[in-house]
Amino acid sequence: MRKKILLQTPTGMHDILPEEQKYYQKIFDIVSEIAKFYNFQRIETPILERTELFSTSIGLATDIVQKEMFSFRTKGGDSLTLRPEGTAPIARAFIQHGMQNLPQPVKLWYFGPFFRYEHPQAGRYRQFWQFGFEVLGAKNPVIDAQIVQIFFNIFQELKLKNVLVKVNSIGDKTCRPYYKKLLSHYLKYRIEELCENCRRRLKENPLRVLDCKEEKCQRVIHGAPQIIDHLCEECRAHFREFLEYLEELGLPYQLDTKLVRGLDYYTRTVFEFFEESEKGKEVGAIAGGGRYDNLIKMLGKQDVPGMGGAGGVERIISLIKEKAIKWPKEKKVEVFLAQLGNLAKRKSLVLIENFRKEGIPVFESLDRDSLKAQLRLADKFGVKYTLILGQKEVLEGTILLRDMVSGQQEIIKLDKILPEIKKRLKKS
Ligand code: HAM
Repeated sequence: MRKKILLQTPTGMHDILPEEQKYYQKIFDIVSEIAKFYNFQRIETPILERTELFSTSIGLATDIVQKEMFSFRTKGGDSLTLRPEGTAPIARAFIQHGMQNLPQPVKLWYFGPFFRYEHPQAGRYRQFWQFGFEVLGAKNPVIDAQIVQIFFNIFQELKLKNVLVKVNSIGDKTCRPYYKKLLSHYLKYRIEELCENCRRRLKENPLRVLDCKEEKCQRVIHGAPQIIDHLCEECRAHFREFLEYLEELGLPYQLDTKLVRGLDYYTRTVFEFFEESEKGKEVGAIAGGGRYDNLIKMLGKQDVPGMGGAGGVERIISLIKEKAIKWPKEKKVEVFLAQLGNLAKRKSLVLIENFRKEGIPVFESLDRDSLKAQLRLADKFGVKYTLILGQKEVLEGTILLRDMVSGQQEIIKLDKILPEIKKRLKKS
């Protein structure tokens, strides 16, 4: 039993096996291309941060801080936490490296693993990957719209065709306290109808009740006052402009007045992306984000507004697989190099490097000695050409070129094999 557990990844965590890598790579490539276009710079912060960074910024009353952090004490007595998200670490890095002295806004992107001690289920892991975009030092709602557009572009390029973005405004420190009071008042009268969790949420942060998926809470939430009706003048203008920009861009958005997000640092604009799942298998939001104009001030002293979002790589991959989305094939490997004997192995090592420099991928099996086994492998890989280099060929400065389709074999001068293969691959 112990051995069985020993040979399993920890609960909620998974290996990314070789056959899975293409999905991560594809998402990374698309995200990094788009980041380049919009002039975002890449940043990677440590996997660990001081626990306090997250409790201060994400909020003590949130599920993430209360239940989902992997925290531990170091031998030196510091409390560290595996990062559950990327925005707080970036805000920390912004302050630590004096980025307010750079031309503003500072636009950063990232791609890496994050950790939350959640109850594992479809689309919910304890280690998962996110890509994210953050704009620091820009207040205008045009930035909010551009961030939404960036996520939209990524999903378009990934061929996710039915994405929908839900948007809302959750106000700021001027209007939210009043709304919170109003909501609390409404909920307190219906406390008996709320689930256990929501009764606790009501005390700590009533906004979080709006997020509850329990049916009985949904009935209560349905009649609750909406924040959108209680925004202050500035927040209302900000939200109106944001929506106008979305209209201008022709983005298919949906106003969701119950969207509040699970992190406390947000102000004004919040958004979440969903993609229709054909099998009806709910993976949840594939991206989420919003504006966080008080976060930097909460952590440091500067008054620097921020806006950003992050996408969940595993959830996106599960949709790509479900919908059997195919991208153009990667460059296929068409050449196998088989060798026989030590001298041929030595020459093969160099020849492989020459192929690499020319950008021609080759399969080989240098550790194998049997020619038969190597030819079987070449067959299995389905290459067009197999090159055979034996002791005799090395001494004569030649190599055998076998066309795997016709079965024909030719002797080619070793120093001519690269241009010859290049020519043949170009033709086919
Ligand atoms: P979040 O909504 O907590 O936001 O996470 C962003 C995305 O990460 C989610 O929409 C989801 O796709 C994915 N995700 C979250 N938790 C899990 C999990 N346990 N398993 C698999 N995927 C998951 C943030 O993290 C904010 N930092 C986003 C942001 C950036 N806001 C402003 N800037």
